[in-house]
Amino acid sequence: MKVFVTRNIAPEAVQLMEEAGVAVTQWQERRELEPEELIGHCMHYDALLVAGKSKIDRQFLQVCHHLKVIALHSVGYDNVDVDAASEYGIPIGNTPGVLSAATAETAFLLMMAVSRKAFYMHRRIINGEWGFNAPMDNLGISLQGKTLGIFGLGKIGMELARKSIAVYDMKVIYHNRHHNEEAEAKYDAEYVSFEELLQRSDVLSVHAALTPETKERFNMDAFRQMKSTAIFINAARGGIHNEQHLISALNSGIIWGAGLDVTNPEPMLPDNPLLTMPTVAVLPHIGSATVETRTAMALIAARNVVAGLHSEPLPHAVNPEVYS
Ligand code: DGY
Repeated sequence: MKVFVTRNIAPEAVQLMEEAGVAVTQWQERRELEPEELIGHCMHYDALLVAGKSKIDRQFLQVCHHLKVIALHSVGYDNVDVDAASEYGIPIGNTPGVLSAATAETAFLLMMAVSRKAFYMHRRIINGEWGFNAPMDNLGISLQGKTLGIFGLGKIGMELARKSIAVYDMKVIYHNRHHNEEAEAKYDAEYVSFEELLQRSDVLSVHAALTPETKERFNMDAFRQMKSTAIFINAARGGIHNEQHLISALNSGIIWGAGLDVTNPEPMLPDNPLLTMPTVAVLPHIGSATVETRTAMALIAARNVVAGLHSEPLPHAVNPEVYS
């Protein structure tokens, strides 16, 4: 039993797979594999563990349908053609649950950083621009008692709601495909229409999956409906906002600020105007990047690999229909 892993992952997970009798090969080069290279490697393996953005599309699956399992080192699976995988009977595993706290923390960090222009202020010190401070210089926006709007209120959004209420006594409103009764009971979260979410949020944080419905949902039309004092946060997928529209909305004062852990494209190029804006904070997709979380994610992915190679149901499959 042999698994190909597209990046180095937590050693605990490699050990788990090896102890289960799986030979593990980790791709060592610090670059994304080209699609043909990935296919070339997978031809010689029984399982694939995808850490990173490799596209698992129909073309890949057509050639590599011998794989007994494809385990993702992520909760998101927008890089996978799940329908095609199911047609070929290949279970796809993901890593739900364990990254909610870390990702919510990243969104919270961005919300705080933007509200106090923290990244920009830091750059000013580096540039020797601390200088003379007058009382009306360097002003941010207080988050105390403000309205937090959550687009896609699942586990990550719930954790952000919990933190925001505890620290800033924020009022939580949300828009989902379905009501989240747990969040309504626990956090007094109010379900609103998409339009109302845009109009009422002081901070609007995106925690939805990237799907055809959410793709570029935050475009100029959406930004125009937001408050001119609003902060837009995206720690989900860069494809959910239109980055050019976001730049224009910030430049023209349509919204006040933005915090991004995900960009479109990734990596963001260093000359992106967002990087010099005072009320913008950008991070390089580190939502789940803590030792604890990445280890937990790798262990789940490893358990998915071992289960798949033993023809057992994956502990976390995104396409359980392969078993029916
Ligand atoms: C996830 O798990 O989906 C994170 O965004 C890492 O890609």
